[in-house]
Amino acid sequence: MKINHRRFGRTGWDVADIGFGAWAIGGSWGDVSDADARQALNAALDAGVDFIDTADVYGDGRSERIIRDVLKERGGPRPVVATKAGRRLNPHVADGYTKANIEAFIDRSRENLGVDTLDLVQLHCPPTDVYFRPQLFDGLNELVAKGKLKHYGVSVERVEEALKAIEYPDVVSVQIIYNIFRQRPAQLFFREAQAKNIAVIVRVPLASGMLTSKMNAQSTFAADDHRNFNRHGEAFDVGETFSGVPYEVALEAVEALRSSVPQGATMAQFALRWILMEKAVTVVIPGAKNAAQAQANAQASALAPLQEEVLEHARKIYDELIAPHVHQRW
Ligand SMILES: NC(=O)c1ccc[n+]([C@@H]2O[C@H](COP(=O)([O-])OP(=O)(O)OC[C@H]3O[C@@H](n4cnc5c(N)ncnc54)[C@H](OP(=O)(O)O)[C@@H]3O)[C@@H](O)[C@H]2O)c1
Repeated sequence: MKINHRRFGRTGWDVADIGFGAWAIGGSWGDVSDADARQALNAALDAGVDFIDTADVYGDGRSERIIRDVLKERGGPRPVVATKAGRRLNPHVADGYTKANIEAFIDRSRENLGVDTLDLVQLHCPPTDVYFRPQLFDGLNELVAKGKLKHYGVSVERVEEALKAIEYPDVVSVQIIYNIFRQRPAQLFFREAQAKNIAVIVRVPLASGMLTSKMNAQSTFAADDHRNFNRHGEAFDVGETFSGVPYEVALEAVEALRSSVPQGATMAQFALRWILMEKAVTVVIPGAKNAAQAQANAQASALAPLQEEVLEHARKIYDELIAPHVHQRW
């Protein structure tokens, strides 16, 4: 199967443009068995995926440890594994983002992932104030010099946080939500990222599964699935759940998008290909809970480019239905 590659900013890495988001194989998405989790990751890697996104808090380390075990079993060339730090802080406040705290989190991730040096550590959607504290970024440079990580980047909630973060010269990547329901990064941030050769990691590409078109007004979610417990932002930023679009509005938009799905593709693949139309994007990281999902998602890399009228239709649906709910929030 063909999978396309893109240059990962200034790192020198080339990565497949479809990666693997490893949140759901950790926790917060209902029950995902160890077997399903491992099969999902293996299927992605078999399909040529070579970029994995995880975090120390996904299943409190379960996601990182599954990745460690699967990669150890497979042997061979290692994919790039990006993890995140910061969300173990309790309370999760800017003052907690000290070099000492972050170093302790990084040490735990090194252990969980079974490596001396992490490939990429991302600050995990820290409070906005953190981006205005240069001493933290100096501290991260010291940890790079110590050999605990190769590179660092940020995962942000808002476009303006991304713009601030890339003022720091050693930030190599920004992870941000960008999908048919969240189009603002393309207006403000992507040109700046390209100008500075920043790698852009796109998360929540399927709007938490909504953009697969499999949901309806009767769909239910397990009590430990954030699509149940964070529907209104009760546990973390509401933008991480269905991209912050009210459920009924999202269903209406998905119906309106159906006619745009290319023949032979699923809506999920169409949604991923839509993201890849943007040159500033380096890698899209759909989550997957089983092998079939991971495989289908990787196949989106090889879809033909979308026609201009299709892009226009997606813009129109965004402007009319979605933008009023999200555009000025993130
Ligand atoms: N703050 C942060 O930094 C942050 C926040 C969120 C996510 N992320 C990262 O971004 C990654 C992706 O985002 P996400 O997982 O939140 O959302 P997503 O990729 O938009 O949606 C993933 C979910 O959609 C469903 N799905 C995936 N592929 C499918 C397919 N082909 N057919 C049908 N259903 C499919 C699965 O759930 P069901 O089968 O249960 O529907 C899956 O768990 C995460 O795994 C994580 O690595 C980071």
